[in-house]
This record gives sequence, structure tokens and C-alpha cells, in this order.
Amino acid sequence: MTTSKSLTLSILFGGVLTLSACSSEPVDGAALAAEKGCVACHGQDGKAIADIYPNLNGQWQRYLRLQLQAYKSQKRENAVMYGMAKDLTDEEIRILAAHYGK
Ligand code: HEC
Repeated sequence: MTTSKSLTLSILFGGVLTLSACSSEPVDGAALAAEKGCVACHGQDGKAIADIYPNLNGQWQRYLRLQLQAYKSQKRENAVMYGMAKDLTDEEIRILAAHYGK
């Protein structure tokens, strides 16, 4: 009973993974950071290009995700980052945070 249930689950999960791997949406964090323009200030790997921009590398994913959500909702106020975050989906925020954070 339990075994067949977890087998069914893993088949379902495997199917979901295969589907998302085939999707044309960019799920690669580096590609998404380039596409969204984050790299212009925070760099490819989160080492910012100038000292007026925060480094993102080495930061916790959870912290980065919460900051992006806060900019989006304007709980954290910053005109530049609001502009960058306002149209990001929850999934894009998760991917970007995973790319830059650890
Ligand atoms: C034009 C330059 C610029 C671009 C482009 C940009 N940022 Fe930022 N980012 C900033 C600045 C400036 C801050 C600091 C804002 C503040 O004082 O809250 C910041 C802050 C952040 C923070 C919070 C860091 C911390 O330590 O709290 C995160 C996370 C972040 N940016 C992610 C991103 C992501 C992801 C993108 C792409 C969608 C992006 N940024 C695009 C300039 C930029």
C-alpha cells in the first residue's frame, strides 16, 4: 500500500520534472539573471560591479527571496529594486534567489 503510493508519487514527480525540463521558459538562474538585467548591477555571480550595489553572493537564498518579495510589495522601499522586482513571479524570485544565494 505505502510502497505503491510512493511509487505513484515518484512517477508523478518524475513526470513533472520532465515537463519542466522540456518547457521553453528559462529556468536556468544565470540565464534568468541576464534576461532580467540583474547582472548589470549585481554581476553574473552576485559580486556587484560597483560599491553602490550590494553583493548578493554568499547570501542565504531565503533572505534574498524575502528581500525581493519585500521590494515587490514595497514593504522595503527602493525605487530601483521596486522597478526590478515588481513584475517578477514567485517562481522567478525563487530561481533568482537560488542562483545568487546559497
Ligand atoms: C540598476 C542597478 C540594479 C539592478 C539592475 C538590480 N539591482 Fe538589486 N539592488 C540594487 C541596489 C542599489 C540595491 C540596494 C537597494 C536598497 O537600498 O534597498 C539592490 C538590492 C538588491 C537586493 C537586496 C540585497 C540585500 O542585501 O538586502 C536583492 C536581493 C537584489 N537587489 C536582487 C536583484 C535582482 C534579482 C535583480 C534582477 C531582477 C536586481 N537586483 C537588479 C541595484 C540593482
